Amino acid sequence: MKTFYATTPIYYVNDLPHIGHIYSTVVTDALTRYRRLVGEKTRFLTGTDEHGQNIEKAAAAQGIAPIELANRVVERYHQLYRTFEVENDDFIRTTEPRHRRGVEALIARIAAAGDFYTARHEGWYCSSCEAFYTEKELDAERNCPVHGRPTVWESEENVFFRLSKYAEPLLAHYAAHPDFVRPETRLAEVVSFVRSGLNDLSVSRSKVKWGIPFPGHPGHVVYVWLDALANYITALGYGGPAGSDSLYREFWAHEGAERVHVIGKDILRFHAVYWPAFLLSAGEPLPTTVWAHGWWLRDAKKVSKSVGNVVRPDHLVSEFGADALRYFLLREMAFGQDASFSDEAFLTRYNADLANDLGNTVSRVASLCRQSFGGTPREICTDNEVLAAFSESEREWRAAMRDCQFHRAIEAVWKLLTAVNGYVVAKEPWKIRKAEGTASDRLHRVLSAAAEGVRLAAVMLSPFVPATSRKIFAAFGLPAEDPRPEDLAWGRLPVSTPMPEAPPLFPRADAEAYFERKDNSMSSTPENPAGGAPAAPSPAPADDSITIDDFRRVRLRTARIVEAERVPKSNKLMRLQVEIGGERRQIVAGIAAHYEPEALVGRGVVVVANLKPAKLMGVESNGMVLAAAVGEDGRPVLVDVPAEVPSGSIVK
Ligand code: MSP
Repeated sequence: MKTFYATTPIYYVNDLPHIGHIYSTVVTDALTRYRRLVGEKTRFLTGTDEHGQNIEKAAAAQGIAPIELANRVVERYHQLYRTFEVENDDFIRTTEPRHRRGVEALIARIAAAGDFYTARHEGWYCSSCEAFYTEKELDAERNCPVHGRPTVWESEENVFFRLSKYAEPLLAHYAAHPDFVRPETRLAEVVSFVRSGLNDLSVSRSKVKWGIPFPGHPGHVVYVWLDALANYITALGYGGPAGSDSLYREFWAHEGAERVHVIGKDILRFHAVYWPAFLLSAGEPLPTTVWAHGWWLRDAKKVSKSVGNVVRPDHLVSEFGADALRYFLLREMAFGQDASFSDEAFLTRYNADLANDLGNTVSRVASLCRQSFGGTPREICTDNEVLAAFSESEREWRAAMRDCQFHRAIEAVWKLLTAVNGYVVAKEPWKIRKAEGTASDRLHRVLSAAAEGVRLAAVMLSPFVPATSRKIFAAFGLPAEDPRPEDLAWGRLPVSTPMPEAPPLFPRADAEAYFERKDNSMSSTPENPAGGAPAAPSPAPADDSITIDDFRRVRLRTARIVEAERVPKSNKLMRLQVEIGGERRQIVAGIAAHYEPEALVGRGVVVVANLKPAKLMGVESNGMVLAAAVGEDGRPVLVDVPAEVPSGSIVK
């Protein structure tokens, strides 16, 4: 029997859920709901990635045990899933015994294939970088080139996985399964990465304590990605006690099992190269498809904790409901590409699509029925333009959903809504009622076609906005339940059934009033960083406004570059000698990847003149050169100073 298994990435617990995590989860939820609606047997897994040094550190910073931090963040995910009606069948945590058993079983299979070996890793180790350095990279005191702190000699045996052995088998798999990575452009990236050659992968760590002990290697834990990726099968009972792997057999290891990983493009390599290589080695089936979606951006940068531009849409959800946000996320982003998140874009779509197109169509047809018959029409009309529009829209909706094109699937439903509206306008049922009375057959037929069109639009919308669909069903006298496959057919509107008065689905939003309320309540926004106690009342977000006196503390001066050369062994760093009104000093700037040294000499720049000195790759830097961060990758573009401005001028 055909089955469908969909997974989200498992989320790190050193961060609270933000819009990016919500997106991956809502997309996978919509996909699974759709497959269920068209009659497939589905399973949906999500969970948390709880091991590793970053989590160890985040917990230590709060003075709690890593598991305590994980428990708190997991609770936040559960709350979030309730709010967004995410219907996952399982939630795996990598700290669960069932997961550890499965990881051990996977490691045993890889070991049996002869794909692990131990090799010595040695060098000068910086615990802040978590990296080894060679003697040549250090200064005379053997300080770390990045942090300037002392390194220590470390020498350890690590377990390596023979990833290099799998380059050819992986390329053969990609060639034979063009759907293995979607969209196609991402497959091309993966293929070129593998073609360029694969190095063996170190899969044990002795520096990290918070992890699954590596079997047979006391003092080592399993590399966090080998641990995490295994979740997709350990949650199905892989490696469990005899007889406990029925889910694994049903949803992973058989011919008709479709296995889809939904991920963000940031973690494609792990899913499309490492994970299938582990599985090939263990002799287990590979996922059918790895679907990599794009990023939600803010100010052209990926929304993420490390960039510091997270979006937690609590205000939007509390004002407009979780369905409105689900709708926005699924409609605004072309799946696979990047999209920008903003409250303004949300409000525009909310008013135009939800309040106007959907809300008005539903309320217009429902009121016409209620006012005419006090309920649904007494017959089902089977020959009309709405039925034709439904057939076409359903076809497009299915095709788009097969290809994970959620925005297109929603557009297809919108075509049906437009057809219903056009039909009502053309048939003018209010005129029929006036001329022929409410017993008119024609009136019943016209309104039955319109109402059935609305019901079917709600059925097709249910994977995206489940609560809204249920409200629409209730408004037409149907049970407020998620639809079943048989509800996707024309003619299931109940006849002569009372229809309750229903409030508007999406009352129009006043954008100005929204922003005013948001500004006023900013002090109570739950913009709680992962560092805080998630279950407790959330602290106010840091107020990032500064006074003019704060600004004056930054001494900005114009300067002229008099010498420039690349810092040896660094791709990024450029050593500059600048002249600030007669004073000469050395500044190291991260611009080497984008500027030629010769092109810099003589150029006017703005520098922060009172920055504390620092050492970068062992080179002293006394200040900072200002540059704009341009584009998705933040390419530095130096801030120009016109030639007539003398060096050393104050910038204020
Ligand atoms: N724990 C790993 C994944 C292990 S899977 C075996 C991880 N976790 S994460 O918490 O950083 O979440 C990563 C996922 O969240 C991304 O792959 C993506 O699906 C989602 N997003 C996080 N930020 C995002 C955006 N700004 N935009 C869209 N989704 C992004 O990586």
